[in-house]
Amino acid sequence: MCGIVGYLGARSPVPLLVDGLRRLEYRGYDSAGIVVPVNGRLEIVKAEGKLDRLVEVLQGRELAGVYGLGHTRWATHGIPSQRNAHPLLDAKGRLAVIHNGIIENFVSLKKRLAGEGWDFVSDTDTEVIANLVSSHFDGDLRVAVERTVAELEGMYAFAVLALESSEPEIVGARSGPPLVLGRGDGEQFLASDPTALLAHTREVVFLENGDLARLTAGGYEVWNSSGEPVERPIVRLNWDPVQSEKGGFKHFMLKEIHDQPQALQDTFAGRVDFESGEVGFDALELTSQEVAAIDRIHLLACGTSWHAALVGKFMLEELTGIPVEVDYGSEYRYRDPLVREGDLAVGISQSGETADTISAMEAAAQRGAKLAAICNVVGSQVTRLADGVLYTHAGPEIGVASTKAFTTQLVALYMLGLYLRQRLGRPVENALLADLAHLPQAVAGVVAGERDFEELAGHFFEASDFLYIGRGANYPIALEGALKLKEISYIHAEGYPAGEMKHGPIALIDKSLPVVAIATGERVFDKVLSNMQEVRARDGIVLAVTDRDAEALGGGADHVIRVPRVSELLQPIINVVPLQLFAYFVAVRRGADVDQPRNLAKSVTVE
Ligand code: AGP
Repeated sequence: MCGIVGYLGARSPVPLLVDGLRRLEYRGYDSAGIVVPVNGRLEIVKAEGKLDRLVEVLQGRELAGVYGLGHTRWATHGIPSQRNAHPLLDAKGRLAVIHNGIIENFVSLKKRLAGEGWDFVSDTDTEVIANLVSSHFDGDLRVAVERTVAELEGMYAFAVLALESSEPEIVGARSGPPLVLGRGDGEQFLASDPTALLAHTREVVFLENGDLARLTAGGYEVWNSSGEPVERPIVRLNWDPVQSEKGGFKHFMLKEIHDQPQALQDTFAGRVDFESGEVGFDALELTSQEVAAIDRIHLLACGTSWHAALVGKFMLEELTGIPVEVDYGSEYRYRDPLVREGDLAVGISQSGETADTISAMEAAAQRGAKLAAICNVVGSQVTRLADGVLYTHAGPEIGVASTKAFTTQLVALYMLGLYLRQRLGRPVENALLADLAHLPQAVAGVVAGERDFEELAGHFFEASDFLYIGRGANYPIALEGALKLKEISYIHAEGYPAGEMKHGPIALIDKSLPVVAIATGERVFDKVLSNMQEVRARDGIVLAVTDRDAEALGGGADHVIRVPRVSELLQPIINVVPLQLFAYFVAVRRGADVDQPRNLAKSVTVE
């Protein structure tokens, strides 16, 4: 996600802004910029790429101001470029804005503002904020921001400064992504998170959703969502700066597991109308004729994203009735696949740079397929290759082991199914939407019980082998659970369809081989229960992920991991979370390098 830094005080702002942005680099970004009002001008310096590029461009620029804003951008709307980098000016060049979040109604606001004569030079939703504030600005910046946020829908933490303010001032607003103030000695700070401020102050104020804040030389003021002045508590941080890069979590992977409720929410927000059932995407459009012409959907991916594709097959076939073929990128690209003109090929990739997935997409396109992508990185190769993109809004995923990207890919696949269903003229019933809206809360409930998994890991971290079993859409989750464990703890683990036990794996069963069984839903629950009892009858140890009480398992499990029940198609999203946490705590107990496991890269850009 984007990084925000603001400074107002007696020191030169540029070094402080750059230092603050450096401390936010872990958040992932693709461009950076700063703005400093100097002698009645807004001096803006921006650069695509890493901060070193920005520092190069800043060389020799004398920006001797007393306040300024800095930003690192993680693109959500508009490809990474100088043009789309923040800060962004309003059309009249009166003020500059930096922003973290997603403005869901930016298209309609942009249309209205353009109709009123406001020009736009970028593809970003942030520029709408700049023009909106300017349209309300008559000298009182805080009131202009207050009127602006009343028109915004979505998630935002933004800061703005204006040339025509009567004194140096920075106004910030928060609804969703965090925004904190820092109080120094005669100087004020504002940032996305305390990491950027720790070098200068440990006294911070965490703004609440709906708060507005105004920073001036004399200090800061805060107003709540009702426009009333409020006192927010000053928190004294004793954070270790290194730790704080992970938001206080020990590893990025654990932080990203905890990010999932918000990431799921951000991924479906603004795309599903839970009243009407209308589903729409801002960067993927298929006509009813194009959808009617789809003979087969090809899902192409690698690793965890391939597991998402396997779950996606169940979702898409059930929601659309269109046959779905799933393939590893590395296999598809070399097997001369059968593709009909008008088929839909969907590349699924967190990084958008996986060589095998890219080549598979090219192979499908060469044979007449229409290309779509489900991806987490705006402007990556996969997104540039595709005719349309359904972005997962998971934010940067730093840990090599994919977690929030996977669950948001599943939500994206589910929404794609709803969208195609709608284009086929079939109804999107409420029953298909209710549990989607409930997902973030259900996942938050599982994540809240993380200590249970730490305790469970204590029993099994010395095991040398694991077997994961599931049926139906839970079979890919068994594969994913096994991959999570093996890639960060280096324990041999394999996933198997539970129904295959008698065809081989049952020979492995003994008391040294823990078996993780995923037993949820109605369709095949009894069958999985039988498999669990077969394991137990041979002195095997069963850890069950289930939506039932322990009694319902009839002694089929040694350890029961209870998960909330949602619809069968969405249940895999819930069921994977305990397996992520279990793998994480086993790896921690083994002293493994959780975020950077040996031999692995976050993105496999070569074959
Ligand atoms: C999953 O935890 C691994 N990091 C790996 O399997 C990954 O899913 C695979 O390399 C595909 O990456 P992508 O989603 O960026 O294409």
